[in-house]
Amino acid sequence: MLKPATSLNHIAMPTNNTAETYRFYTKVMGFPLKSAVREERVPSTGDETPFLHTFFALQDGSCIAFFDIAGEKYAGRSDGVPSWIRHFAFNVETYEELLGWKARLEENGIQVLGVIDHEGIWQSIYFFDPNGLRLELTWQKRELEAEDTAHGEELVKQWIEEFGQQDADEVAAAETPEGTEPVDQKPEVAPA
Ligand SMILES: [Fe+2]
Repeated sequence: MLKPATSLNHIAMPTNNTAETYRFYTKVMGFPLKSAVREERVPSTGDETPFLHTFFALQDGSCIAFFDIAGEKYAGRSDGVPSWIRHFAFNVETYEELLGWKARLEENGIQVLGVIDHEGIWQSIYFFDPNGLRLELTWQKRELEAEDTAHGEELVKQWIEEFGQQDADEVAAAETPEGTEPVDQKPEVAPA
């Protein structure tokens, strides 16, 4: 039986300064360094590109990872996508912790936006890491229910139809991998 992927292993982004990134994620965010890889060429492409690849772990073992490329500065380059769109959101367990993190970040000289309420479900704060990557800490007040999913499905259907992206019924009828439904785990996603 083919099942969907279980969880996030890592996401990878560019950094121009491993020292700043290491300090921010280990000392400010509390994500310990889990591993690092140094190579002279890229394993997947064979390109002669010396790099250091670092992995910083969340409590569940998933990682936010970085590539520091020797002689290059890829982080912070603008490709025209507004900075609020690409972001990574991390869960905190209580509203008090969210406020605690807001205070801690500000004590470290980091500008924090929020607390912002989303749909009465997510309470979020936003800030940037040293690489210009937007981060979100969010406290999800409740688990998402069947009606949340139904509401989401309806919004997707409406959007597809309104913007003529594809026939919505055709999309709905397409097969999903085994094990996709029912969704019985607490979703880890939050809106922007
Ligand atoms: Fe978000």
